Amino acid sequence: MKQIRVGVLGLGQGRSHLRAFQLLEGSCVVAVCDQNSALATRVAHEFNVATCHPHFEAMLEDRNIDLIVVATPDHLHGQHAIQALEAGKHVLSEIPMATTLEECERIIQLTDRSGLKYHMGNQVRYAFCLRDVQALIQSGDLGDVFYGEGEYLHEMEDIVGHREADHWRIHPQTPQTTLLGGGPHAIDTLRWLMGVRFVEVQAYHAAQLSRWQTIHTTVALFKTSNGGIAKVTVSYGMKRPYCLYYAVYGSDGSFERTRDQGGSVEDTTNYLYHSKLSGARRMVPVTVPNWNNPRLQRQHALGHGTMEIEQAQHFLRAIQEDSEPAIGPREAARSIAAGICALASADQGGGQVRIPEFLD
Ligand SMILES: NC(=O)c1ccc[n+]([C@@H]2O[C@H](COP(=O)([O-])OP(=O)(O)OC[C@H]3O[C@@H](n4cnc5c(N)ncnc54)[C@H](O)[C@@H]3O)[C@@H](O)[C@H]2O)c1
Repeated sequence: MKQIRVGVLGLGQGRSHLRAFQLLEGSCVVAVCDQNSALATRVAHEFNVATCHPHFEAMLEDRNIDLIVVATPDHLHGQHAIQALEAGKHVLSEIPMATTLEECERIIQLTDRSGLKYHMGNQVRYAFCLRDVQALIQSGDLGDVFYGEGEYLHEMEDIVGHREADHWRIHPQTPQTTLLGGGPHAIDTLRWLMGVRFVEVQAYHAAQLSRWQTIHTTVALFKTSNGGIAKVTVSYGMKRPYCLYYAVYGSDGSFERTRDQGGSVEDTTNYLYHSKLSGARRMVPVTVPNWNNPRLQRQHALGHGTMEIEQAQHFLRAIQEDSEPAIGPREAARSIAAGICALASADQGGGQVRIPEFLD
C-alpha cells in the first residue's frame, strides 16, 4: 500500500504528530515548516526530516506531500486547513478546527467537493480509560442518556509561564480562549461519550482574569439533540493538578471519572453504577490504564502517551480505505460550533445561542 507522505506545519505540539507518523508503517514525514526558522532547522535535523520549508506557501506547492498536519496557533487553523485542502492535501488539524462558523463551513465544502480527508485531532477520543466506556454507553448500557459533564482544568503556568509577552496564547489580540483552546477536549469528548449533538447553549465567564489579563474560566450549559443537558467547564486558573473529567448519567446507570488522575502511564479509576447491580450502595471503582494503551506504551512514548499514535493510525486508515474519519469535518464542526456559540454567549454576559447542527 502507498505510504502517505506527511508535512508538519508548526513545530511545538506538531512534533508529537511528527513522531506519531514516523512510528507508523503507512506513513513517512517528508517535510516540516515553522516561521521560526531556527526551530524548523533544529527539528528537521533532530528527527531526520529531509525538507525544511521556509514558509507555508512553499509547503503547499510541494508535490511530495499528501497530508499536512496543522499545528499552528488556534486562530490560524481554519485558514491553514483551507489553504492545504485547496492545494489538494489531506489535513490533520490540531484543535480547534477553526474559530469561525464560516471557516468550518468552508472546510466541509472543500472536502465534499474534493474527496480529500480532514480529521480534527482530539486525541482524547483515543484515551484508553475512555474507549470501552464510550462503547458501553453507545451500546445502550446506561439507558437513555440525559446528563453529562466535561471539564478541562489546566493551570497554564507550565505552558505559558516562560513565554514572551507577545506569545499567541496570551497576546491581547489572539489569546487562547477557554472553550476553543483546551475546551474541545471537554466538548468534543463529552459529545462523543454521550452520543449527542449540542443544539443550544448558555455560557458565562468568571470576571477574574489571569495575570496576563486573559479570561481563564468559563462554564457552558448545553441542550442536547436527545432532549438532555450537559455542562462543560474550562479553567486555566484553578490551582490544582491537570484534569480531564467526564461524567455521563443515563436511565439505567452512571459513569464518573476520578478528578485525581495522575500521569498518562499511571493507572486511574473510573466509577460505574448500574441499576442491575441491585445490592450496590457505592459506585463501582474500575482501575484502568490512564491515557496510554499498554500494548503500545512499552514500544513508544510521546507527549500525550500513545493517543496521538492511535489517532494518526486511524486517520491513515481512513485515507487508505476512503472511509469517513472519526472526527471528520462535520463531526469536528458540531463540536467547534458548540464552542464558538458558547463563547458568543459568554462574551455577551450569557443568553441562549442556537448551535448549527451540521447534519450529514
Ligand atoms: N491536542 C493537544 O493536546 C494539544 C497540546 C498542545 C497544543 N495543542 C494545540 O496545538 C497548537 C499549537 O500549540 P503549541 O503549544 O505547539 O504552540 P507553540 O507556540 O509552541 O507552537 C506553534 C508554532 O507555530 C509556529 N507558527 C505560527 N504561525 C505560523 C505560520 N504562519 N507559519 C508557520 N509556522 C507558524 C510558531 O512559530 C510556533 O513554533 C495550538 O492550536 C494548541 O492549542 C494541542
